[in-house]
Amino acid sequence: MSSRSSRVCGYGTFLFLIALLSSIAQSQEGIVNSTSASNLPSSIRKDSTAAEEKQWAVLVAGSAGYENYRHQADVCHAYQILKKGGLKDENIVVFMYDDIAFHVDNPRPGTIINKPFGHDVYAGVPKRKSNSDVIFSSLPAFDLKDYTGDNCTVDNLFAVLLGNKSALTGGSGKVIDSGPNDNIFIYYADHGAPGMPVGKDLYAKDLIEVLKKQQEASSYKSMVGTYFYLEACESGTMFEGLLPSNWSIYAITAANGEESSYGVYCPEFYPYPPSEFSTCLGDIFSISWMEDSDVHDTSQETLQQQYEVVRRRTGFDYEETSHVMQYGNMELSKELLSLYIGTNAANDNYSSGNSTNNIEEYPSRIPRAFDQREATLLHFLHKVEAHRELVGIHSHIRHVDRSINHIAAALFGDHENDANAMINFVRPSGQPLVDDWDCFKELVRAYEKQCGGLSWYGKKYTRAIANMCNAGINVEQMIGAATGACSLPSKDETDRN
Ligand SMILES: *[C@@H]1O[C@H](CO)[C@@H](O)[C@H](O)[C@H]1NC(C)=O
Ligand SMILES: *[C@@H]1O[C@H](CO)[C@@H](O)[C@H](O)[C@H]1NC(C)=O
Ligand SMILES: *[C@@H]1O[C@H](CO)[C@@H](O)[C@H](O)[C@H]1NC(C)=O
Ligand SMILES: *[C@@H]1O[C@H](CO)[C@@H](O)[C@H](O)[C@H]1NC(C)=O
Ligand SMILES: *[C@@H]1O[C@H](CO)[C@@H](O)[C@H](O)[C@H]1NC(C)=O
Ligand SMILES: *[C@@H]1O[C@H](CO)[C@@H](O)[C@H](O)[C@H]1NC(C)=O
Repeated sequence: MSSRSSRVCGYGTFLFLIALLSSIAQSQEGIVNSTSASNLPSSIRKDSTAAEEKQWAVLVAGSAGYENYRHQADVCHAYQILKKGGLKDENIVVFMYDDIAFHVDNPRPGTIINKPFGHDVYAGVPKRKSNSDVIFSSLPAFDLKDYTGDNCTVDNLFAVLLGNKSALTGGSGKVIDSGPNDNIFIYYADHGAPGMPVGKDLYAKDLIEVLKKQQEASSYKSMVGTYFYLEACESGTMFEGLLPSNWSIYAITAANGEESSYGVYCPEFYPYPPSEFSTCLGDIFSISWMEDSDVHDTSQETLQQQYEVVRRRTGFDYEETSHVMQYGNMELSKELLSLYIGTNAANDNYSSGNSTNNIEEYPSRIPRAFDQREATLLHFLHKVEAHRELVGIHSHIRHVDRSINHIAAALFGDHENDANAMINFVRPSGQPLVDDWDCFKELVRAYEKQCGGLSWYGKKYTRAIANMCNAGINVEQMIGAATGACSLPSKDETDRN
């Protein structure tokens, strides 16, 4: 069906939220004096007025399904910020499955909100054009559709980032076509997993390769700065040990390499979504940067300042959430947000010190956020009609847990401790998840072939599979172990302990 290319958007993928800001700024001084943005005082990039500066953005929601409402809501919200900031539609590329606004479960058809008392954030976002499920507002022609439904693929995302129109399959045809004075912002929302937080089969290593190409393509005569905001479970594994500090790339992730990121505004938990919503409305890391950007003067706020706001709100205002991380070239963190996301004149009088945290409206209550896997399950738990699906989900979870444990035991001996160690081992910081990414991909594929797709739940075991590669397990051994584990009778799986 959609097998020609792995979908970025789709069911069974993980939540992951990246903001990638890529700035391409050129200055005469910079060219003569420096070949690396890390040597270039940020004031030079900031003040560069040599040519017209264009701002580009790529926004990606990697999941689909009403239970993952929050990721597409985050991305639509980001679109509104960029529009208010002055970015042009022709420079904003949106990847989203676009199955939320008109989903049968949506209590407010045709709209999407990203916080409890929030306005619609769906209006104006480039939309899917299909059968009867889309109502178009009066938008410019190019604005009708970007990369929605089956066009929301990893290959298209890479083609867009590299500005390579001939590599596109379907979609609007918009790519990042940046000039020497341009900036690019990219933001990504999806589930996550060690080494592959982005959608289905988007591996950290492949993304890094694309970014490297992007850097090389522009290094000849301009400075390229790239800035990620990435929210996903284990999102740190996207950059840990992989992103060099001498590229002009600066990344912020919602979580370190071994923890979940968190959904928020979840049914029946404070801060409450409207009662008719059976799904979480946002993600804590994402809404932290966006609610900050909504009201503050981004022409007075640096990336670093916003990082501090986001880190505090994500890590400390909520109990038990994640550690926001920074990777790459720290020099870029001194730049102003407005370089990447524009600036809304209505916020001119509000500097970043001003609190906007709406949880402070009820200071006595402890806000709750849910790790991504729980956040998705909450929908099924909350919605009575979804209980039947929940039974299937439980059986899937049991199957994955069981098969991974069997495989680890087959490969590493029957000592439960050895097998557990293989599943849970976390490499020291500074080391990538895996040394041989081809092995990693092959073992994941071999597992999925024998045992079925890992899905949004099963991907939590990608670290275990990475550990197997690091321990020298090859694809034949994996096939053997997976065949053994998954050819066991599974009819009465739920009765088995
Ligand atoms: C480097 O830039 C400074 C001004 O920023 C200028 O005075 C100096 O001549 C430049 N160096 C070279 C080698 O061009
Ligand atoms: C663009 O993509 C096409 C098709 O994948 C490829 O053949 C070509 O080399 C790419 N162009 C550049 C400049 O990378
Ligand atoms: C995918 O892209 C093609 C070509 O632009 C378009 O005809 C089709 O409607 C798109 N599909 C979706 C689901 O957006
Ligand atoms: C970054 O550093 C590595 C070695 O540490 C070097 O090989 C590479 O050329 C450098 N890249 C840039 C863009 O300076
Ligand atoms: C900001 O403050 C100045 C001075 O008080 C005022 O003239 C201006 O209208 C304010 N701008 C906004 C957007 O509120
Ligand atoms: C908040 O904004 C007001 C202007 O509306 C300003 O006077 C005040 O200093 C700001 N507070 C902080 C902490 O920045």
